[in-house]
Amino acid sequence: MKRTTCELYYDRVAHKYDDSYKTPYWDFYNAVTWHNIKKYLPRLQGRRALDIGGGTGLWALKLAKSGYDVTLADLSQKMLDVARRKIESANLLPKVVFAKTDICNLSAFEPDSFDLVLAEGDPLSYCNDPVRAVKEVYHILKADGLFIASVDNKFGGMRVFVRQNELDELEEFVKTGRTNWFTKDESEQYPIKYFTPDELRKLLSRNGFEVLSMIGKPVLSLGSDSESLKDRKSFERLLKLELQLNAEETLLGGAGHLEITGRKL
Ligand SMILES: C[S@@+](CC[C@H](N)C(=O)[O-])C[C@H]1O[C@@H](n2cnc3c(N)ncnc32)[C@H](O)[C@@H]1O
Repeated sequence: MKRTTCELYYDRVAHKYDDSYKTPYWDFYNAVTWHNIKKYLPRLQGRRALDIGGGTGLWALKLAKSGYDVTLADLSQKMLDVARRKIESANLLPKVVFAKTDICNLSAFEPDSFDLVLAEGDPLSYCNDPVRAVKEVYHILKADGLFIASVDNKFGGMRVFVRQNELDELEEFVKTGRTNWFTKDESEQYPIKYFTPDELRKLLSRNGFEVLSMIGKPVLSLGSDSESLKDRKSFERLLKLELQLNAEETLLGGAGHLEITGRKL
């Protein structure tokens, strides 16, 4: 198995990235995410947003459509290229600037300049130094600005090793929260850091943020091939329940991902 970097991996898959997420499960996941982001938009003082690890522009596009001035930043130039084409087709280029940037080094941006920083799709889990990354985000946010980030959930991640009876890997993972994620065909791998809800809360609260909320995504145990989500009515009913339950402390541990919202103090 070839070791790679996150940047090379996303460069390689950028052209087919969006297609691989066109499933009812990811529609559901994205509906949960957008619901959470939208909830916080009215609190923002201004309209400047940084979407870091913004990939092919899913959230940047929605924010730009909602009237925000967005900086879409990512480690992968190829992901940014795809995003630019989509934003151009939506006639939103005047609302978006693009930057090839690592979340661990945001020195290209002015201090105290953004009202909102999004880091969706787990750049905190993929980057080399999550503490550094959170400090960098703190630096470029305005006071009272919001940081919304998703990460891979450690307790959710353990299931894979348990199911596959990989006990050496499970013991190591429980110790470190780190693993090498590999591609479906197992030809490539790169390292990922998983967080428990408690670790994620501390990551923000020890670096200048008040934690406003944490949700699991999803907390209902829906597999990525869930049959129930294929039916529109079931989808809507499950979504309603998910949104009702996803901040329940006892359910967070079982989710595949965690999403935290913090306010810069
Ligand atoms: C799973 S994709 C999510 C894309 C987008 N945020 C979304 O939710 O659709 C993860 C993205 O994070 C980017 N990424 C990974 N590590 C990063 C880092 N250290 N700094 C900035 N972006 C990073 C990848 O290149 C990729 O585009």
